[in-house]
Amino acid sequence: MNRDAKSGQEIEFEGNGRGEKPGIREGSAWSRREFLANSAGLAAAGALGGLVADVPLSAREITKRGSATDWPDRAAAPAPGKPLRIIIDTDPGIDDAMAIFLALRSPELKVEAITPVCGNVPLEFTLPNALRLVEIAGRTDVPVAAGASQPLLRRLATASHVHGANGLAGVDFPEPKIKPVRETAPEIIRRIVRENPGEITLVAVGPLTNVALALRADPELAGMIPAITIMGGSLSGGNITPAAEFNLYVDPEAARIVFDANIPLTMVGLDVTHKCLLSEQQIKQLEAANNPVSQAAGKIMRATYERMSKGGEVTVIALHDALAVASLIDPGVITRKNYYVEVETEGEWTAGETLGWDGSRPIRRSAPMETSAPEPPPAEIPYKPNAQVAVGVDPDRLFNLLIPRLTGNAA
Ligand code: BDR
Ligand code: CA
Repeated sequence: MNRDAKSGQEIEFEGNGRGEKPGIREGSAWSRREFLANSAGLAAAGALGGLVADVPLSAREITKRGSATDWPDRAAAPAPGKPLRIIIDTDPGIDDAMAIFLALRSPELKVEAITPVCGNVPLEFTLPNALRLVEIAGRTDVPVAAGASQPLLRRLATASHVHGANGLAGVDFPEPKIKPVRETAPEIIRRIVRENPGEITLVAVGPLTNVALALRADPELAGMIPAITIMGGSLSGGNITPAAEFNLYVDPEAARIVFDANIPLTMVGLDVTHKCLLSEQQIKQLEAANNPVSQAAGKIMRATYERMSKGGEVTVIALHDALAVASLIDPGVITRKNYYVEVETEGEWTAGETLGWDGSRPIRRSAPMETSAPEPPPAEIPYKPNAQVAVGVDPDRLFNLLIPRLTGNAA
């Protein structure tokens, strides 16, 4: 059993990383440390040692990122005539649902697996939601593997105020008939990537816990992943705090592992997703089309719209996650710029903030505390991009792709 350093309270973590999660396996709660140690390969690789022990992640040497030239600057895109093979890591979630439907109905993509993680709502909802969405889309050929039910080191913070207590805006879909596969999310990510080195793009639209666990379990894995697109982060302020975007806020330590992994990474953050707002007219289009995907999407979006309107809020539904998936189908939907992105993990108010340097200013850490050992003034760190950040978006291009794909009226 771990203890919270501040409160001294015991921290419990349900699930053991072998697919034996609440709802899948009756039984005991596992400690966080046990989960990390028991996740496939973690013990053997010893890769999580520094994370679960007392070594703060911020103490890692920035030079571990490699030289200024070795970051492979490329984005994922389908090759002509050949679908892009992807794994979707997700926390469904209203906009996750739209993203999953878009991916499953796009011939440019081949979805190899869906790996739900806790986030918008706990895993006990995101997992059955993923199963439901796959069933609704008639794509039960796509394996769904249960992921982490807690962030790496933090208590789970959810966004049920946006997504409803069940994650799908309170819409009461039937219980899924299909079951998750036996492998856990980190295990299936590792297996599929290892069996197809250089072939599998990850698209992660929830907190990055599953992806971080897979990477930490298998130090060679990052080199086999050609690209990762994440919905998360922001260079222009957050949504859950003034500093942090939700997915990074929930598990900043996991996000840092992913940003540090030297994988070609595209960050589709709030800078662009906040410009992709679904209109009521588009909800009507979804409702009018007579196919299960469009009907389900229409119900979720209608319920969201009504809940938001009742709350007296301005009704804006940003389709964050759908934009990340759309950028794999049609890379021109966003414009990108290279940045070196750091994830704040230590701030009392700012954990999960993403800070971006574009090379025009020196990279510097915060000034050392007076109490720290005397050292020379913080050295400038050489600029080296680790992400292509989406800095521009064409919302019409997104919706002209998304709505016809879901309604079945694609040309
Ligand atoms: C992100 O947080 C979640 O609430 C959404 O599903 C999206 O992935 C937006 O900040
Ligand atoms: Ca999400």
